[in-house]
Amino acid sequence: MSTPGAATPDAASIQPAKGKLGIMMVGMGAVCTTLIAGVEAVRKGLAKPIGSLTQMGTIRLGKRTDANSPLMRDFLPLAKLDDLVFTGWDIFGGNLYDAAKTAEVLDNETLEKIRPYLESIEPMPAAFDQHYVKRLTGTRIKSGKNKRDLAEQLRKDIQEFKKKTDRQVVIWTGSTEIFLSPTAVHQTLAAFEKGMENDDPGIAPSQLYAWAALTEGIPFINGAPNLTVDIPAMNELSRKMNAPICGRDFKTGQTLIKSVLAPAFKARMLGVSGWFSTNILGNRDGEVLDDPSSFKTKEESKLGLLDLILQPELYPDLYKNIFHKVRINYYPPRGDSKEGWDNIDIFGWLGYPMQLKVDFLCRDSILAAPLALDLCLFMDLAARTPSLKGLGIQEWLSFYFKAPDSAPGVYPEHDLFIQSMKMKNTLRHIMGEDLITHLGLDYYGG
Ligand SMILES: NC(=O)c1ccc[n+]([C@@H]2O[C@H](COP(=O)([O-])OP(=O)(O)OC[C@H]3O[C@@H](n4cnc5c(N)ncnc54)[C@H](O)[C@@H]3O)[C@@H](O)[C@H]2O)c1
Repeated sequence: MSTPGAATPDAASIQPAKGKLGIMMVGMGAVCTTLIAGVEAVRKGLAKPIGSLTQMGTIRLGKRTDANSPLMRDFLPLAKLDDLVFTGWDIFGGNLYDAAKTAEVLDNETLEKIRPYLESIEPMPAAFDQHYVKRLTGTRIKSGKNKRDLAEQLRKDIQEFKKKTDRQVVIWTGSTEIFLSPTAVHQTLAAFEKGMENDDPGIAPSQLYAWAALTEGIPFINGAPNLTVDIPAMNELSRKMNAPICGRDFKTGQTLIKSVLAPAFKARMLGVSGWFSTNILGNRDGEVLDDPSSFKTKEESKLGLLDLILQPELYPDLYKNIFHKVRINYYPPRGDSKEGWDNIDIFGWLGYPMQLKVDFLCRDSILAAPLALDLCLFMDLAARTPSLKGLGIQEWLSFYFKAPDSAPGVYPEHDLFIQSMKMKNTLRHIMGEDLITHLGLDYYGG
């Protein structure tokens, strides 16, 4: 069933994706190099952009009988892969060919074919403080008299890149920072800006990049679980500058599967008494997460979704006593090839217990790179769309995050299929198409 009357004047007023889209990546490690190398490999016709909705996904328009499901990239005015230009920052020097070799995600054969391109990109010196990522010692770091000074230097980097590109997005693919809770300094933009001048410990490097991007009117995406833009000060800045923000921490492996299985149990009113998730991971991200303060940031991000999906307050008999545990173990032999196990204790009719075991042998950055690409393209679209750009949080992009962000007082939606429907209906809406509710009575004369 499609709902007429949803059309907006947006479709005509969305600014076209003309010229170059500059993608500024904070943290040029495994995810970043896998994304950039992958885009170049696709551009050269060496591989397919598998896992990317913007490149391979379709969107149904109108009734099922209309048989009209164009590719999203044909339907939407998205930037083309040929128009993407990459730059970024890292605490380590060297070009992206070396960084990709260090990350050990892509094989030599692929890397050699795009070697000159990867060698042409070198990270800019970073705004970094080891207090926030204990396991790393940086070699190429900006210095300044206070945090404000560092953030102003990042703004200058962005301004330089603006001269070479037509539009920009900034994406954090940097390490997971230590766990921070919101404090007074995060509550208003004025308090935050004063806090940068006073070197407030509540302000982490990732927030300096976010402030610089938003102040420059550029969307900011956070691929890690850090507290970065999901604070009132950044929401205020984002709305003021028409520079979109969205959730945090790419939803890639174990959490993706959790956000599929948990809604299935709830849809069938099956109870859950325990969910034990453990991982082994051997890349640099795994090493950073081996530090308890960074692990706590990741743990909070991974733990949040079950309660929000299962809603124990509505279904106390089924979900009020879940024991939920998440572990990540640093295990170097596996590199970027993570293994995640889930043991799920469920119960059915009359309370009879059952178990489900999942063993997901995944590749972290292979799963994350297409999400990073989609988010850059969709956030650029949001920044060109009149009815989206002033909203601040782009809740329709929850689909991509372990910790989606939402308006104050509204709980975030974690169910992958609700998120997918929300995203597609938002895209139909901005393009002036009817929304699809799946009611379907009209096929039967209803
Ligand atoms: N790969 C996945 O499936 C996945 C999923 C969800 C989230 N993430 C998150 O994405 C982030 C990147 O993951 P990765 O595997 O690429 O890690 P990585 O360690 O390979 O790369 C991170 C890079 O960030 C750099 N860095 C750290 N602090 C910085 C700063 N202040 N400024 C600039 N650079 C900085 C590091 O030097 C490193 O090169 C991590 O936070 C990870 O938790 C990854």
